[in-house]
Parts: sequence; structure tokens; C-alpha cells
Amino acid sequence: MAGFPYAEQFGVNRTLPEQGLDRESVLAMLKSMAEAENPKWEGGQCSGTMYCGDHDHYDFLNAAFAYFSYVNALQRDLCPSSTKFEAEIIAMTLDLLGASSLTGTEPVGLVTMGGSSSIAHAVLAYRDRNPTKHTPNIVKPETAHAAFAKAAHLFGVELRVAPIDPTTTQVDVDAVRSLIDQNTIALVGSAPNYGYGTIDPIGALGQVALEHGIGLHVDACLGGFILPFGRELGYDVAPFDFSVPGVTTISADTHKYGYALKGTSVLCFADKALRNDQYFYLTDWSGGRYCSPGMDGSRSAGLIAATWAAMVHLGRSGYRRYATEIFATAQTMADAVRAQPSLRIMGRPSFLFAFTADEFDVYLVNDFLRTRGWRLNGQQYPNALHMAVTRPQTQPGVTGRWASDLADAVVYAKEHAGEPAETGAYYGGVPGGPTDEADAFIKSMMALIMDRQTSIPPA
Ligand SMILES: Cc1ncc(COP(=O)(O)O)c(C=O)c1O
Repeated sequence: MAGFPYAEQFGVNRTLPEQGLDRESVLAMLKSMAEAENPKWEGGQCSGTMYCGDHDHYDFLNAAFAYFSYVNALQRDLCPSSTKFEAEIIAMTLDLLGASSLTGTEPVGLVTMGGSSSIAHAVLAYRDRNPTKHTPNIVKPETAHAAFAKAAHLFGVELRVAPIDPTTTQVDVDAVRSLIDQNTIALVGSAPNYGYGTIDPIGALGQVALEHGIGLHVDACLGGFILPFGRELGYDVAPFDFSVPGVTTISADTHKYGYALKGTSVLCFADKALRNDQYFYLTDWSGGRYCSPGMDGSRSAGLIAATWAAMVHLGRSGYRRYATEIFATAQTMADAVRAQPSLRIMGRPSFLFAFTADEFDVYLVNDFLRTRGWRLNGQQYPNALHMAVTRPQTQPGVTGRWASDLADAVVYAKEHAGEPAETGAYYGGVPGGPTDEADAFIKSMMALIMDRQTSIPPA
């Protein structure tokens, strides 16, 4: 396999070495790889993924992690501290997401391993809450994250997909309504969605959910820890949390704009009964009476401690300060897009904006931006690019570089209009929409990429 990472520098481990390497050598290798990779995002040209970016913050979280990295949070008698951390993470997140406005219910939560995990636990909870619906379905906006499709697939729930209004990129609420039947267990809305950074009309979805007596999950994996502060700062963020009647669960990722280490998210429930329905029990097992709050067994107490550390260290003022900088930077960067008449911002974005182009393939813009070190995320139907603004973009000089590189990229795209874009083939889908053959081909390419990420090259 060509290009196996670091094969030339460090070789390939095909078997467990008989004699282990000394710690210094191992750490030197790790340091060298991290130092080679960090510059890809440190300069502020990478969309999303590195939400904080401050190495001193990561050092602090790593120190918090180290105290409990070897502890299993499933064995609570050994680590009562995990209960303090987990319960407080949940309480602080519920408070941030408007749980105090709930009456007559007991709001609770789960700390999970990431956004997809929170979404999966929510779908599982709705399914198990509705045991008499033998062919349950959920209705999600087309833009809601792929994790809903994954969860539906895993738990035997039918996924119904509602179209969006192409101008606002928000879900068409009438279409949602028309997809509901007696087997619908929950609706989904995003705050905001991954593709366009736009927020679905959560108030209207809540009304529909209440009319039908079904759940409404708000996917605030991206927005949960930044939109509340955007609202406080006066940005145009419609209510999306438990203050909206009808909202029954919210996912909010601590490992994104919560600025924690990778590997945690919070799933909030308006009512305890829904969460507890997906608790797993095996009381008659020879290994002892077993119970776990979610799908995982052993969990790292270190990650829970580091997440708690991030939250109590930053506090509201820290999150607000970061949100101030990120929202302002996002506005400046989106204005640079608006300054290019051939580019079109999609809907009313938040801290994440997406744009497309009508007179050329916007992936041509991406082709050029890549040569200047930018790493944007790509969408399809229509082809579009997005930038999720994070702290690295708030560094001095980044927005200026963005404006001038984008202007040059548009010149390049116009000069090459009509030519195939290099970066479009994988993310951009196939011209003329998906066909069965093209879909099978794309899936086989994706499988190849995933296989390669977990395989050593042939000897
Ligand atoms: C809106 C939204 N929901 C869910 C997810 C899934 O989160 P994770 O990658 O942590 O599983 C993402 C990831 O980017 C997201 O943007």
C-alpha cells in the first residue's frame, strides 16, 4: 500500500515487538508525528474539528485527564469523583439549555462518547419508550446529521426524511407533518445543522410534536455550548432549547464548542422516564447483576474529569468570551463571501456558514483554496463549501487572509469554469444526481478509504 503514514521514518509494526521500546523513544515518535500534523490547523485555516486550539488549554485538560485516565467510571465504588463530575456536567448542561423552564418533569442526562453516540442513545430511548409501535419511525430534516440514519439503521427504526426549503435551508415543517403517522416516535431539528449552520424552526416543530404526542430531539451537538451565548450577545438565534414547548431531548457536544477533550457529549432529557427506559439491565447473569446507563460498558473516568475541568474552568464568562470572538469572526468571514457576487451564502448562518456558486462549480474555489492551505468541508446537492468557525480563526490576520485568498480563488474558478474540479469527485457526488451504479461505486471508494485507515501495507 503506497503512502502508509510515517513508514519511512518509523517503519511499520506488523507484529507486537518482542522487546518493547523505551519510553523516551516512544514519546519522541509521538511528539514528532503530532508536531508534523498540528500546523495543518494551528494557523486557523481549517474548518471545525479543532474547537479550542489553545495548547495551554489542552495541557490543562490533559493534566485533568491524567489523574483518572486509568480509572473505569463503571466501577463507581472506586471513583465517587466520577459521580461528582458526571452529575455536575449534566446539571450544568441542563441549566445552559433551559431545563429550569420545564415544569412537572424531572430533567436528566447522560454523558456519552460523542455526538453520534448521544443521537444513537436518543433514538434508542424513543424506540424503547414506545414498545407498542412495532414499526417505529423518526422524521428528520434532510440536513440533520448522518448519525440519525446510522442510529435508525442500528435500532431497526424507519427513517423518514423531510426536505428543506432551498432558500432558507431550514426544514419544511409541512413536509414533516405529512410524514408523521401512528408509528412516528420522534421528530428531529438541528441547532444548527452540520451542512449550512442554519437552525431549524424548533418552535414550529415543537408544536407539531405536541399535537401528535411524540418526542422532539434537538441536535445541538454543534450549537449547544455556543448558541446560548450567541443569544445572550444579541445575535439572531431563535429559541431552540427546553424553553421551547415540545422539546424532549437535546444533544450537546462537550468535545466541540464545550472545549473539552475528544470523546464526550451530553444527551439531555426533559424527563427521566425517557432516559431510564433505555437503561440496560441483566439481573440473572452469572457474572453478577449488571446494569449500565447507556450502550458503553467501561468508560474513561479521565475523559469525564477533563470535561468537567473544561466546564468549571471556563465558566459562563469564558464560554461567552469565546463566543463573542467566534461569532464576530464568522460574520467577517461570511461578509467576505458576500463581497463576491458570484458566491451565494446559503440561508441565515450562525457561527458556521456555507456558500455555493451558480456560474461555476464551487469546488473549483476549493481547489484553489487548498493550494493556500485552507481546509473547508464540502457539501453536495448542491455543491457547497462550509466553514465552521472555531477559535483558531479568531487569531489576528486570519480573516484578512481569508478575504484575499477567497478573492483569488474566485478569479481562478471563473478562469476554469466548465472544467472538472479536483476536489469535487468524492464530496461533490456525480453530475446528474445519484444513480445505483454511481452510488455503489462511491460506497466502494469510501469502503476502500476506511479499510486503508485501519490496515498496514502488504509486506
Ligand atoms: C450537527 C451535528 N450533529 C452530530 C454530529 C456528530 O458528532 P460526532 O462526530 O461527535 O459523533 C456532528 C458532527 O460534526 C454535527 O455537526
